[in-house]
Amino acid sequence: MSAPTEPEREPAASPAPARRTAVIEVRELVKRFGKAVVHDHLNLDVWRGEVLSIVGGSGSGKTVLLRQIVGLERPTSGCIKVFGEDPAKLRPAQLQALRNRWGLQFQRGALFSALSVIDNIALPLRELRALPDNLICRAALLKLQLVGLSARDADKMPSDLSGGMIKRVALARALALEPELLFLDEPTAGLDPMASDDYVALIRELRRELGLTVVMITHDLDTLVALSDRVAVLADHKVIAAAPIPDVVKVDHPFIREYFLGERAQRALLALPQAARFPQPAAPPGEA
Ligand SMILES: Nc1ncnc2c1ncn2[C@@H]1O[C@H](COP(=O)(O)OP(=O)(O)O)[C@@H](O)[C@H]1O
Ligand SMILES: [Mg+2]
Repeated sequence: MSAPTEPEREPAASPAPARRTAVIEVRELVKRFGKAVVHDHLNLDVWRGEVLSIVGGSGSGKTVLLRQIVGLERPTSGCIKVFGEDPAKLRPAQLQALRNRWGLQFQRGALFSALSVIDNIALPLRELRALPDNLICRAALLKLQLVGLSARDADKMPSDLSGGMIKRVALARALALEPELLFLDEPTAGLDPMASDDYVALIRELRRELGLTVVMITHDLDTLVALSDRVAVLADHKVIAAAPIPDVVKVDHPFIREYFLGERAQRALLALPQAARFPQPAAPPGEA
């Protein structure tokens, strides 16, 4: 896996409108904790096969949105559908069946420190109680190799691993049930730039090989630019834009200006094919 300076773009970005299938539909979502409003009539679609990144200020509700999509948190009102089903309306067994169709890699809750690498990866398969253990071990080994680790790492304990390896093992566990959909919450947070680049290359490769739909929360602009087909921006309790980066940066909003127009952002954006740089402040939407 080489690290190309010129990032290769996926041949198929977001599908053309006519061929889109929504894997996730969020409609008029309201989420409050007591009097604190997190989401206020938020709408979002995720299309099959795309990498959609969610950005927004700290505390803007990115993680809470993800937790509602995967049924770990209940919306105050509104509707969420994943593969056509509303996680909040399913019985536990039905929700579990739905959960088996996606993989989760949350920033916290990485690995079980008392379990070896291979046992961490095998855990979702063991919980299914459907396969004999020798098959489970073989499947877990394959996942270990899929994320660029080797059988030599299988018996290591999480405390023996580098930050980058921990992320890979967590990813292998998220992929254990061969999901169609992958959720990543700040997957490159805490990694040094090289480990971060390697991880991004891995996600890109897996996405291509496995045809995954990926929903990713990230602060990191390089990760964002390298992987996203579309970016959803969370601000003012809503999704204020959901579009490819060159279109998002044209939206006139304080968060977007601050996030995408800094010097570091402009450097990261140079990696885009149609470099979305700013000769002058962006025009408000609709203006030529
Ligand atoms: N279980 C909870 N109870 C009360 N407030 C919460 C809870 N979970 C999150 N919040 C609040 O909701 C807001 C959004 O949080 P979060 O989604 O974690 O933000 P971020 O965009 O940084 O991921 C924050 O103000 C946070 O304090
Ligand atoms: Mg968060």
